[in-house]
Amino acid sequence: MIRILDRNFVPYISASEIQHRVKEIADKINVDFAGESPIFLGVLNGAFMFFSDLVKQITIPSQVAFIKISSYQGTQSSGKITAKVELTDDLTGKRIIVVEDIVDTGRSMEYLLSILAEKQVASVTIASLLQKPEALEVDGIPLDYVGFSIQNQFVIGYGLDYNGFGRNLPGIYVVKEI
Ligand code: IMP
Ligand code: MG
Repeated sequence: MIRILDRNFVPYISASEIQHRVKEIADKINVDFAGESPIFLGVLNGAFMFFSDLVKQITIPSQVAFIKISSYQGTQSSGKITAKVELTDDLTGKRIIVVEDIVDTGRSMEYLLSILAEKQVASVTIASLLQKPEALEVDGIPLDYVGFSIQNQFVIGYGLDYNGFGRNLPGIYVVKEI
């Protein structure tokens, strides 16, 4: 068990399970995007570990870019989404692979898709390490690559945080309800 601030967390998905799944997703992207040169667009901060491990397994020519979006406070989605770091890279005509840590309510992804809709991109594909199907509140979010579908519980580790802590853990942990 791990304690972070006022909460306890227990192991949920091991580091080796994650690495195995990330390799599977990368293999699939390498096949699906053969002959193309996409831009991997990482959503900071949460996706930084998934992003790094994923792109290391990519063999097609590709570029990277980042955007920072924020919606969470504590263990609840605040519902108010803001871009904290603007997208400055030129994405015109490019195929974009959005790399996210988790799709929870889907509001952050909906917001990001609205930003990308204003750019003249060739296509948008989404790779999310985690998804919480029961928490989804918006329609029309095509998750092309998903690492793990999980229950509607708060998780940390492998990039995901509880009030800023726990991102460095190599595995994923789930909150232990009191
Ligand atoms: P959404 O807008 O509700 O889909 O939330 C998306 C963002 O909230 C994700 O990119 C995460 O950064 C954060 N988030 C959602 N669920 C969790 C969780 O269980 N643990 C930590 N962060 C989470
Ligand atoms: Mg995120």
